[in-house]
Amino acid sequence: MTTANPTLFDRLEEIRKEALQNLSQAADLRALDEVRVRYLGRKGSIKALQKSLGTLTAEERPKAGAAVNELHNEVEGEIDKKKKILEKEALGRRLTEERLDITLPGRAEPAGVPHPISLLIDEITSIFSRMGYDIYTHREIETDYYNFEALNFPPDHPARDMQDTFFVGEDLLLRSHTSNAQIHYMENHKPPLRVVVPGRCYRCDAVDATHLPLFHQVEGLLVGKNISMAHLKWTLETFLKDLFGAETKIRLRPSFFPFTEPSAEVDLLRKTKDGKEEWLEMLGAGLVDPNVLLACNIDPEEWSGFAFGVGIERLAMVRYGITDIRMLYDNDVRFLEQFRGQGAT
Ligand code: DAH
Repeated sequence: MTTANPTLFDRLEEIRKEALQNLSQAADLRALDEVRVRYLGRKGSIKALQKSLGTLTAEERPKAGAAVNELHNEVEGEIDKKKKILEKEALGRRLTEERLDITLPGRAEPAGVPHPISLLIDEITSIFSRMGYDIYTHREIETDYYNFEALNFPPDHPARDMQDTFFVGEDLLLRSHTSNAQIHYMENHKPPLRVVVPGRCYRCDAVDATHLPLFHQVEGLLVGKNISMAHLKWTLETFLKDLFGAETKIRLRPSFFPFTEPSAEVDLLRKTKDGKEEWLEMLGAGLVDPNVLLACNIDPEEWSGFAFGVGIERLAMVRYGITDIRMLYDNDVRFLEQFRGQGAT
């Protein structure tokens, strides 16, 4: 390099050495970027050299310019190379540091279990649906008409007192039984018909081992030609045998409900733990009162039917041997856990 401007070439050599040394010391991408700025940046030393070219004579300039450019390209090339190496290193580090062991077993989240009341409702509705019954639900906030009047409870009839009702407005109440749905269903379906209606009911009862202000019933209704107590008895026997086993015996006792005539209380014969037998009252039933059919514009001369209503909590207590109805709503996981794995789910 014989030239009129040895200082520039000396400076160039100096910068090259220094840059290459700095580069070799850059341990990560940040340090590398600092090197880049120091040499190639707008205020970098190579930029400064380029600027100083202006002070050279026209003769000197091309050679010096070429040398500065060469240095620029060399440093740039080295930075790129080093960048690729550092990037590869960083990726390798991340891959080992952030490695996820997908062979570890997952952490099990505790899953809920079906509530015994839901289990029974599912079971009962599927028994009846196999017998061709429709499954229907209706409102829980009801008018006096559907809860009582259309079901043949006259306004001051003492039968109303059997149901301590929650009134929520002038003419609105929380339904005291699922029988209200009989009326809604018959208003919207022509006979012959058969339907079961599961749902919540409310009565202003004090809480004790056998009473809650909120409980569930499944209502059943069938309307056809020449329906008799024999049809009713067969149906209930078939249903209760399906639920409690083929050995199950039932009996019908005369009773009273305004919406059925005749009316019956249905008992189930059960073996107690000490081997004795006892009759347990399970549900109410009867032949649909002609006045109920009339309220739904169904001619009682042509059509007849039976109806029944079963309390689900009561059924659950007998079925699962639960001695206090409150256990069903305590939400004690140890109690509920016993129903894991039951039902269709
Ligand atoms: N609704 C009655 C109650 O809650 C139960 C009942 C009895 C329903 C006889 C019926 C029936 O459909 O025929 O006490």
